[in-house]
Amino acid sequence: MASYYVTTPIYYVNDAPHIGHAYTTITADAIARWKRLCGDDVMFLTGTDEHGLKVQRAASEHDCAPIEWADRTVVRFQEAWQQLDIANDDFIRTTELRHHRSVQQLLQACYDNGDITLQTYEGLYCVSCEAYYTDDELDDGNCRIHRRPAEHVTEENYFFSLSRYEKPLLDWYEAHPDFVVPATKRNEALGFIRGGLQDFSISRTSLDWGIPLPWDRKHVTYVWFDALTNYITAAGYASDDTQFDHRWPGVHLIGKDILRFHCVYWPAMLMSGGVLPPRRVHVHGFLLVGGEKMAKSALNQIAPGDLVDDFGSDGVRHHFLHDQPFGPDGDFSYEAMVARYNADLANNLGNLMSRVATVVARKCNGIGPAPRPDSPLASAVTQCYGEAAEAWERLAPSDALDATWRIIRETNSMLEAAEPWKAEPGPEVDAVLGDALEALRIVAVLASVATPRGCQEVWRRIGMEGSVADQRLPEAANWGGYPGGQPVETGKPLYPRLR
Ligand code: MSP
Repeated sequence: MASYYVTTPIYYVNDAPHIGHAYTTITADAIARWKRLCGDDVMFLTGTDEHGLKVQRAASEHDCAPIEWADRTVVRFQEAWQQLDIANDDFIRTTELRHHRSVQQLLQACYDNGDITLQTYEGLYCVSCEAYYTDDELDDGNCRIHRRPAEHVTEENYFFSLSRYEKPLLDWYEAHPDFVVPATKRNEALGFIRGGLQDFSISRTSLDWGIPLPWDRKHVTYVWFDALTNYITAAGYASDDTQFDHRWPGVHLIGKDILRFHCVYWPAMLMSGGVLPPRRVHVHGFLLVGGEKMAKSALNQIAPGDLVDDFGSDGVRHHFLHDQPFGPDGDFSYEAMVARYNADLANNLGNLMSRVATVVARKCNGIGPAPRPDSPLASAVTQCYGEAAEAWERLAPSDALDATWRIIRETNSMLEAAEPWKAEPGPEVDAVLGDALEALRIVAVLASVATPRGCQEVWRRIGMEGSVADQRLPEAANWGGYPGGQPVETGKPLYPRLR
C-alpha cells in the first residue's frame, strides 16, 4: 500500500488558534481524506511548538511553569481541530519524550558529521519569530513581521554549518523540480540559496526551556531546529526504524512566512543527519483580514470556533477549500462565506438531496430506483471525477470542488428538464430518479473530503450502509454503484439557508 505522510506546521502553543492556522489544517485534512479514499496508507500529523523564549515568558507572566502553561494552552488547538472535524492521525507536542529523543539523535548525527561547532554570536533577535536578523532585514531595528524592536543578544552558541550545504541543496533542487511548489516559491528558495548561505545558531544558553544538547547540557536547542524535527519524530525517527522507512519522506504544507526554514534549513539539517529531505513542500499564501495578516497586535484574529457556530464545520471547511485557492494570498470575507454556503451547500447539494428524496417518496413509495447503465449523466460524472482527482493530486482544492459541484449542477439540470415531480409514476420517472440517486452517491464520496458531515448524511439518507469515508476510489466513482431498492429518507434541510 502506498504511504502518504502529510503535515501541517506545528503551531505556537501559546497563540490562540485563528483561521490562518485553520486554513492550512483544513487543507491538509482534505488531502489526507482524499488519499485515504484512494487507498493510500495515510498519516496526517499536526501539533504544537512548545519550547522557546515566547512560551517561557508567557508562562512566567502567568506565574506558572512553562509545561503547565503549554498543557493549558494546547487544549485550544485540540478543541479547534475537533470542532472542524480534523481527522489527524497523530498530534505531536514538542515537549514529549519521543521528540526529545529524536531531536537529540538528529543533533548528534549532525555533530558527528562535523556540521555543528561552537562560536560566539552577537546579533539582533526577534523573540516573536524566534530568529536572528541582520540590520538590513529589519526596518529601523524593528522586525518586519511583528513590527517590534529586535533585541540585542550576545551568546556562545553552537552553529550549524549551513554554508556547506549550498551545493548539495542546489543539486537537490535541480534533481527534484517539484520539491517546492508553486514554482514562484521554489524560485524564492533558490534565490535565497544562491545568495549565499550563512551558518545559523542552533543552541541557546539564555534560557532553559528547551531540549538540552546531548554533548553540552548547558545549551538548549534552538526552537526552530527543535520544531522542524517534529516531522520525523512522529514518523518514527529514533523510535521505530521500520515505521520511519515506510512513512518518510513526507509532504509538508506551510505558509509562505516559514519558507526559508522548511525549504533551506530543514533539508540541509536532514542531509547532514543522513536522512532524506521531505518529498515535497507546498507553500501557500496568507489569509488576510481587511487586507492585513492576522496578528494578536492587530486585533483582527478570527477564531475558527466562532465561524463553526454560524456555518457548521462543513460550511467553514468548504469555504476555505473552495474560495481560497491554495497558493496566493486571499482576503477573508464573511459575506463570501455566506454566499458560498448558500450557493453550494444550501442550494445545490442540499436542494438536490431534498428534491430527490421528496419525489422518491411521492412517486416511488420511498424506495430508491436503480440508475440507468447508459445514463446521459454517466460520462459527465466520469469526466468530473477525472478532473477532481487530478486537481487533488496537484493540491488545488478549489478546482477539485468545482469539478465535484459540476456533477450536482448537471444532475439538477437533468431533473429540471425531465420534471419527474410532474410525471406519472413509471419507468421514466424511475430512470431519472435512479440516475439522480447515483449522482448523489458519487458526490457524497467525492465531496466527503471537504464536507464530511453532510456527505455522511446524504450517504445514509439514500440508503447506503456504513461510512462514506470507507469507500475506495476509483471504484466508488464508477457509474452504477447505487444498487436501488433501498429506502430513501426525506429529512430536515441538509444545510439550512443562511440570510
Ligand atoms: N511554530 C512555527 C512553525 C514550526 S513548523 C516546524 C510557526 N507557528 S505559527 O503558529 O506562527 O503558525 C505558522 C503557520 O500557520 C503558517 O506557516 C501558516 O501555515 C499558518 N498561518 C498563520 N497565519 C496565517 C494566515 N494569516 N494565513 C494563512 N496561514 C497562516 O510559525
